[in-house]
Amino acid sequence: MHKNKKIIVANWKLNPTTLKEAKKLFIGVKKVASKTEKVQTVICPPSVYLSELNKLYSGHRLALGAQNVFWESRGSYTGELSAEMIKDVGVKYAIIGHSERRALGETNEMVNKKVIAGLKSGLNIILCIGENKRDSRALYLNFLKEELESALQGAQKRNLRNLIVAYEPIWAIGKNADDAISPHQTHEMYIFIKKILTELYDKKSAANASIIYGGSAEPDNAEKLLTYGEMDGLLVGHMSLDAGKFNEILKIANARKVKSV
Ligand code: PGA
Repeated sequence: MHKNKKIIVANWKLNPTTLKEAKKLFIGVKKVASKTEKVQTVICPPSVYLSELNKLYSGHRLALGAQNVFWESRGSYTGELSAEMIKDVGVKYAIIGHSERRALGETNEMVNKKVIAGLKSGLNIILCIGENKRDSRALYLNFLKEELESALQGAQKRNLRNLIVAYEPIWAIGKNADDAISPHQTHEMYIFIKKILTELYDKKSAANASIIYGGSAEPDNAEKLLTYGEMDGLLVGHMSLDAGKFNEILKIANARKVKSV
């Protein structure tokens, strides 16, 4: 899908508190995102803002994403939004399985159903996986393998084109660049995730999936994470609420050489 571009995703979480502020932030990012041709920027605001923000930009360099979808298309599911509904209002991406949702009770099984529903509707899926802490025996690798395998149960080879795996170690979320993972560690995780995808599918299909990093990605560490870490992009939380800082990350990503596939 975007193999010749870096993917920089803004996860606004439960912010900002008004549509007016959301528009201001979006417009502030749009100025740079519409010019950074080597970057696919994806803004994931609270879903209630999606339709209005979609009216503010019509190009391809900046796309919108939801922070969650439900697995059923319609019916008696109070409070839920289906992947089809999200797609219908012009949204192209959806974050699924974020650790903050898992902490609220989302299980691997629910994440799997959401991934399948999202792929079926034609959305690009940003699937979050990440360990709570690292142990010296590296058991966290089994945990990650399990999270990834269960999330993808029933997904086909061809779906990998629409899959972005976001590796987000929970211990590195919401901190600052100094506490984030080292580029060396992200590189290891990149290889590890590619290996699991290759085992589940095959090398060619695995190459079609993108792998991005999230957890205190900031202007200060973005370059290292993308170059030495070899990540295909970044999932940015708190720094995406500051248009100036987020735009710095976009510019850094735009200046990176892209890997040939
Ligand atoms: P952070 O959040 O950049 O604030 O660490 C990332 C995320 O939770 O997706």
